[in-house]
Amino acid sequence: MHLQAVPRREPPIPNDPSAVLAQLLDEGVTWGDSGLWLPKLPSKSVDLFFTSPPYADQRAYSRIHPDRYVEWFLPFARAMYDAASDTGSLVINIKNRVAKDGPLRGQRHPYVFQLVIALQNMGWRWVEEYIWQKPNAIPGKFGPRTKDAFEHVFHFARGTKPYFDLNAVRVPYKTTQDEIERRKLDTNGRRNTEAGFGRDRVSTYRHGGADPGNVIAVSQTYNQHRGVAHTAPMPEGLAEFFVKAMSPAGGVVIDPFAGGGTTTVVARRHGRQAGGLELHEEFVMEARRRIAAGLADDVPGRLAAGS
Ligand SMILES: C[S@@+](CC[C@H](N)C(=O)[O-])C[C@H]1O[C@@H](n2cnc3c(N)ncnc32)[C@H](O)[C@@H]1O
Repeated sequence: MHLQAVPRREPPIPNDPSAVLAQLLDEGVTWGDSGLWLPKLPSKSVDLFFTSPPYADQRAYSRIHPDRYVEWFLPFARAMYDAASDTGSLVINIKNRVAKDGPLRGQRHPYVFQLVIALQNMGWRWVEEYIWQKPNAIPGKFGPRTKDAFEHVFHFARGTKPYFDLNAVRVPYKTTQDEIERRKLDTNGRRNTEAGFGRDRVSTYRHGGADPGNVIAVSQTYNQHRGVAHTAPMPEGLAEFFVKAMSPAGGVVIDPFAGGGTTTVVARRHGRQAGGLELHEEFVMEARRRIAAGLADDVPGRLAAGS
């Protein structure tokens, strides 16, 4: 795959909605403001918006105060709603923060939860909350609390029947093969416990793998030690889970806050059409390098020597 040159100025947005989508899918990551591009997408054309937006008040590239975060995010959410297909989803990876000022100083700021409520009020159906658990979270000084070892991933759907393929994300059963074979022959089938819980012991082991549950353990990657790389990369494993479960083969996946291009790399690897938008030119260049190489991650969880 060749590396497309990035023009010196942000490219103009085509007038024709299908040309807008075609450009995003062609470029992999397009240099532009998703606040301007998303409303131009064809209606009901996107199967999955998967993104890790700038978190409140956190990075040099985003200085959005947590008190104003919902107000900032809503126009993007509105445009994504219009562009999502009837079975389409919006999946947002986001992290809480401790308020630095104001009456909540020193407490967890509730902006993440306020965002969920606002999206639900807008019409996005809140399907599930996933926890991205980081087995290699970095220790530090966080006041009267432990280190941050997880982030939220919220799944919203446009309609009542979002695309969802549990089989695509099943994990190996924990029990032994002998036990699996024995259980498959269990003629008693569903058994109810005294407490009233029923367990279907017959069909559980006929799916080729276990339901992974909504806590996803993926090590954080540390791409910032690799040249000009993005400082807030999302590990490929996280994107992979949601792309596989929540977009059909050949479907359209868009990341409106594309950063280093992880979503596009992973979605294309799994046979989806993928593109994204990124405001900062240097990240667009970096994303295109990674897309061309088909590789977004550094070695998971390893800091470079001397760091
Ligand atoms: C948390 S980072 C995304 C990291 C990405 N998931 C990755 O793996 O590299 C958020 C990105 O959104 C970009 N961004 C912020 N506002 C934007 C906007 N209005 N349009 C496009 N990109 C934007 C920032 O420049 C930043 O690179």
